[in-house]
Amino acid sequence: MIKISDRVKAIAPSMTLAMSARANELKAAGERVINFGIGEPDFNTPANIVKAAKDALDKGYTKYVSASGLPALKKAIAKKLKEENNLDYDPSQIIVSNGAKHSIFNAVFATINEGDEVLIPKPYWLTYPEIVKACGGVPVYVMATYRHGYKVTASQIENMITPKTKMLIFNSPCNPTGAVYTEAEIRKIADVCERYNLTVISDEIYEKLIYGGETHFSIAAVSPAMKEQTIVINGVSKSYAMTGWRLGYLAAPEHVAKAISSFQSHSTSNVNTMTQYAAVEALSGDNKPMREMVETFGKRREFMINKLEEMKTYGFDFVKPDGAFYAMLLCDNLYGRFYRGRKIRGSADLSEMLLEHKKVATTPGVVFGDDDFIRISYALSEEDISEGLERIIEFAKETEE
Ligand SMILES: Cc1ncc(COP(=O)(O)O)c(C=O)c1O
Repeated sequence: MIKISDRVKAIAPSMTLAMSARANELKAAGERVINFGIGEPDFNTPANIVKAAKDALDKGYTKYVSASGLPALKKAIAKKLKEENNLDYDPSQIIVSNGAKHSIFNAVFATINEGDEVLIPKPYWLTYPEIVKACGGVPVYVMATYRHGYKVTASQIENMITPKTKMLIFNSPCNPTGAVYTEAEIRKIADVCERYNLTVISDEIYEKLIYGGETHFSIAAVSPAMKEQTIVINGVSKSYAMTGWRLGYLAAPEHVAKAISSFQSHSTSNVNTMTQYAAVEALSGDNKPMREMVETFGKRREFMINKLEEMKTYGFDFVKPDGAFYAMLLCDNLYGRFYRGRKIRGSADLSEMLLEHKKVATTPGVVFGDDDFIRISYALSEEDISEGLERIIEFAKETEE
């Protein structure tokens, strides 16, 4: 029998896949499932971006291009980073990959050695620890609590540092919490990273999805020294409703970009060429559709926040999310109670029961490292948000001691 390598054996299977498979089964059976589990915009890719890909195909741009990315796209990314993030990168410092997930994998793979410790604020995007483990690193969690708006502080980070700590994976706006760090908070965190010479992977994929007056600030923009220690991750998936196209990118110090470029040329090579032309249009063309999408998310967020306020009467709680399109619904008040004779032991049970009995799909907090909540997305219509939250209230009311 073929043996699986130790590294791959260490990787956990995705619990969310089983849940979405069950939601799809119920839908196929004719049930009206409200899907709060969604991790992508429910908008189509804007027409001007789709057209750019079609034009590329018509022009015969279907051949290999440079493994690290189309020069025109790298130029557009460098311009974006300069104008929007105040970061000066030469196109040679930018690597285009198959989604931000792939960019993060490349960044960790290029910089982490066996046994290196990687700090990850928790709740975390579930892929971070698995990538770290796949690359031989050891994930070490820093707890971002509900009481502190799901943000970690500089001193919490400093307290977790050991001689083996090499990296911090920082994500603002954050999936799953929606937390957006302020520039002042980021500067304090950067100060610790500078003092301990930590590499920072700054995942800025939700950069455009910020509401309520907050603004995005890249940790790489803190100082020239910080920029030399940071690998900035971004992409077009969430901001331009392009999740299926698979295009992300990173910007890094020259020697890091060069190393990543080398091994990408021996693994995936270039991202499909037409998608790269589409991304040039996303970054440089008309961005009105993107702004309208963000505006719609902003309205839904307000709508959801109002409903969640009402839900406090039933023992739920939440922290106002400032970014991305997720909210965390604290529901530990239901744990230990019974629904139709079955004990709710944690977020996995709760999510499963909500799906089975109320046809509401959610993501259990346990997959993000915090069992006290379920994650609900607002990448769905106000009508569905309202109906789905009503069903959750109904479920709560039907539970028993
Ligand atoms: C925090 C975070 N980073 C990165 C990604 C991956 O993005 P992409 O689809 O570009 O690989 C996601 C997708 O869910 C995410 O939530």
